[in-house]
Amino acid sequence: MRRTEFISTGMYVPERVVTNDEFTQWMDTSDEWIRTRTGIVERRWVADGETGADMAYVATTRALERAGLQASDLDAIVYCTLSPDYFFPGTGVFLQRKLGLPGVPCLDVRNQCSGFLYGLSVADAWIKSGQYRRVLLVGSEVHSTGMDLTTRGRDLAVLFGDGAGVAILGPTEDGGRGVLSTHIFADGTYAELLFCDAPASARRPRLSHEDLDTARIYPVMNGKEVFKHASTRMPEAVQLALKTSGLTTKDIKMFIPHQANLRIAEMVRRQLDLSEDQIYNNIQKYGNTTAGSIPIALDEVVQAGRLARGDLLVLAAFGSGFTWGSAAIRW
Ligand code: ACO
Repeated sequence: MRRTEFISTGMYVPERVVTNDEFTQWMDTSDEWIRTRTGIVERRWVADGETGADMAYVATTRALERAGLQASDLDAIVYCTLSPDYFFPGTGVFLQRKLGLPGVPCLDVRNQCSGFLYGLSVADAWIKSGQYRRVLLVGSEVHSTGMDLTTRGRDLAVLFGDGAGVAILGPTEDGGRGVLSTHIFADGTYAELLFCDAPASARRPRLSHEDLDTARIYPVMNGKEVFKHASTRMPEAVQLALKTSGLTTKDIKMFIPHQANLRIAEMVRRQLDLSEDQIYNNIQKYGNTTAGSIPIALDEVVQAGRLARGDLLVLAAFGSGFTWGSAAIRW
């Protein structure tokens, strides 16, 4: 039976480290508030002119090198982001151009924090069906250019960071290994609870002076509602992933939740009755990098040698939309 395996991973975060203390020069906040409510200690911000595609390119070159592959070995790109470099075209084509792969299909996935799992679901179907052999799956975000760095925007500005993670996926016939399942969900009832209103083709003009004056260009969030849904939907999705393959939480070697808030991750861990060794968190260093968060964490886990062949890896995410999902992978 053909399944999808992770051939290699790679990540890149910008050089600039932004500590919690730095925010106090722009807004009424404190290191103590941010640490205790979110677990975040610092995050990375891009340099002027550095783009999501630039970060994804570096992460991809690292993954290619580890796999002993050339860019020309890639057959398709799935690029997941909520912060595309431009309104259009999608960012996948900019990455493709940097990699020198004209003709290779590029799909942009716009599913926010669940983007990497949505992208994995599509890439897995392509590979299993034989449509594409080697797929580059990317999660890359630039948040720092779109945050309200005043006290008005403090609830969101402190949460997010920039960064990119990638995985190179391909087919395996090695019985039992590879992606066992992906489950993805959405509920648009809650679309405006984590939302960015402008620029928008839903209004004329797409971007007005009023949008700038009223801060409509910045995201808004009902943090408590997002928190509540995230901490119930992620464990549900994990249980479904396990049940689908006849597994239990005891079988999990490594669980990587989307990195939105350390308190959410801790609640999910307790609900699943996982030990601290079974979960990986790095939000302390990077904040919430949205579609980038799972592949960045995965690359760190892999480079640290914490996954051996045959181990069970489980991924889960929840985010704007609302969207959520899970994946179970026999490494
Ligand atoms: N510094 C200091 N005070 C702040 C800050 C800040 N950065 N931000 C908010 N506050 C204030 C609020 O204004 C509020 O003040 P008030 O009581 O005077 O009104 C007070 O702190 C408490 O705010 P709460 O919203 O009650 O704080 P809470 O404990 O809920 O934590 C947080 C807020 C961290 C945002 C939390 O709700 C959360 O993490 N929610 C989930 C976020 C998330 O998971 N997003 C995921 C998806 S992201 C995506 O898909 C793009």
